[in-house]
Amino acid sequence: MPPSLARREPDLVEWMDRPDCDPERLEATYGHFRWVNRRLGRWWTVYRRWVRPVLRREAGDHRGVEGCERGPVLRILDVGSGGGDIARALLHWGQADGFRVEVTGIDPDPRALRWARSSGTAPDEVGPRPDFRQAMASDLLQGGERFHVVVSNHVLHHLEDPEVRAFLSELEGLALRRVVVTDIERSPMGYQLFRVVSALPRFRDSYVRPDGLLSIRRSFRARELARVSPPGWTVRRLVPFRLVALRDVPREAASSLEAGSP
Ligand SMILES: C[S@@+](CC[C@H](N)C(=O)[O-])C[C@H]1O[C@@H](n2cnc3c(N)ncnc32)[C@H](O)[C@@H]1O
Repeated sequence: MPPSLARREPDLVEWMDRPDCDPERLEATYGHFRWVNRRLGRWWTVYRRWVRPVLRREAGDHRGVEGCERGPVLRILDVGSGGGDIARALLHWGQADGFRVEVTGIDPDPRALRWARSSGTAPDEVGPRPDFRQAMASDLLQGGERFHVVVSNHVLHHLEDPEVRAFLSELEGLALRRVVVTDIERSPMGYQLFRVVSALPRFRDSYVRPDGLLSIRRSFRARELARVSPPGWTVRRLVPFRLVALRDVPREAASSLEAGSP
């Protein structure tokens, strides 16, 4: 247990990032992300506060109902999509609101891609699903792709300070309207609470506990994240122990991107 949680742990690598980690525990971890992101990550709140308003503005009056979505195609990108549950949830929530959403999830790890593509829906189920691709944000930027909303969760704490600014700038370059980046906020109390929650038997066979505890140690405080973010970004707290980094793309920048977007 860290006495003060004063320092991040740059030399330690999470189990799930190791190529030789146990594949069954890794798959169980991807499966458990859904629970973690809904309950602790508060993604429904993130959607309602920061994603849905953008979709509403873009769609204007052109909005249908679930199963009969209308209006312009609205593209959402999830960077570092892992098990894919946030991408799937965004697609589901967007469609339930009557928007014509297309969701893309990208992750550099082929194991995450395999899980994301095969889980969440029955293999013979028809209907829209997120498009999961093995890629980095820079690949999409180079390809000229643009998205109305770009989101990312639990990726920042994998990066060292100097990498954060470049990562956020890439996400901004991909966004036509808004970037929403969420992560844990490091705190001794959050660490202790997660020790209790992650001791639940349901997490016994996954890496949720060791990786989650290390993630907390590697994550930022609000002021630290604000310091390493590019100009124009704001960092907010979301209870409990969450950070949300936000960037609204200025209208002029967005119009020139749209003119050149595929
Ligand atoms: C802790 S998992 C989070 C997965 C998912 N976003 C979630 O919240 O459940 C971190 C993911 O980020 C991916 N990742 C790590 N570095 C990345 C980077 N520079 N760009 C994009 N994804 C990255 C990893 O492969 C991993 O799947």
